[in-house]
Amino acid sequence: MQFGLFEDRPNYFATLGDLVAAMMKLEDDPLFPAGTNMVIYRGNPQAKLMIIGEAPGTEEDRQGKPFVGRSGQLLDQILASVSLDPERDVFITNAVFRLPPGDDGKPLRKPTSDEIAYYKPYLMEIIRLVDPKIMLLSGNVATESLLGQTGITRLRGQWFRVGERWAMPIFHPAYLLRNPSREPGSPKALMWADIKEARRKYDEIMAGDQG
Ligand code: URA
Repeated sequence: MQFGLFEDRPNYFATLGDLVAAMMKLEDDPLFPAGTNMVIYRGNPQAKLMIIGEAPGTEEDRQGKPFVGRSGQLLDQILASVSLDPERDVFITNAVFRLPPGDDGKPLRKPTSDEIAYYKPYLMEIIRLVDPKIMLLSGNVATESLLGQTGITRLRGQWFRVGERWAMPIFHPAYLLRNPSREPGSPKALMWADIKEARRKYDEIMAGDQG
């Protein structure tokens, strides 16, 4: 059965659980032959804030959850710095759902544009079913998938409309791990500005929701 064509079949899945069950059975996706696991999400499916990363790494492949390795630990610290609890306040997923091959302790191979395009309908179904108000696109792969653009240094920190939702590209935590400086203008300093802005928008939207 081919599940990849949601454009012709909008609202194909009734629940996130149904979608996850179908994704776990996928065998015709481009990274299936690599033999790596399907890694879909962690966090709260009711959250209004979604973080979209690149693709699982080796630790994520092992545990079956996104962002549980070194990048994930840094992501959790970044969220905690603005009092966001990754399990309660956030839903965390990726643009590509299997580890691209060739990652044996070396940096993750970047997914190709074809791989990004293949998994995009699944990501769009996840977004539709979770229904976040705000999405943070962590790195160029997530930004390419959702905005059709790359150039994270130029795009980060700006809000874009994706349908009814807000999306902001931010740096990927792996990039911050490679660039530890905290000087003004450094990737870490810019990330701090971006996460504070994301928190501000989140508070504004949550307040609007209640009133
Ligand atoms: N990097 C990502 O983009 N996603 C993960 O899940 C882990 C590392």
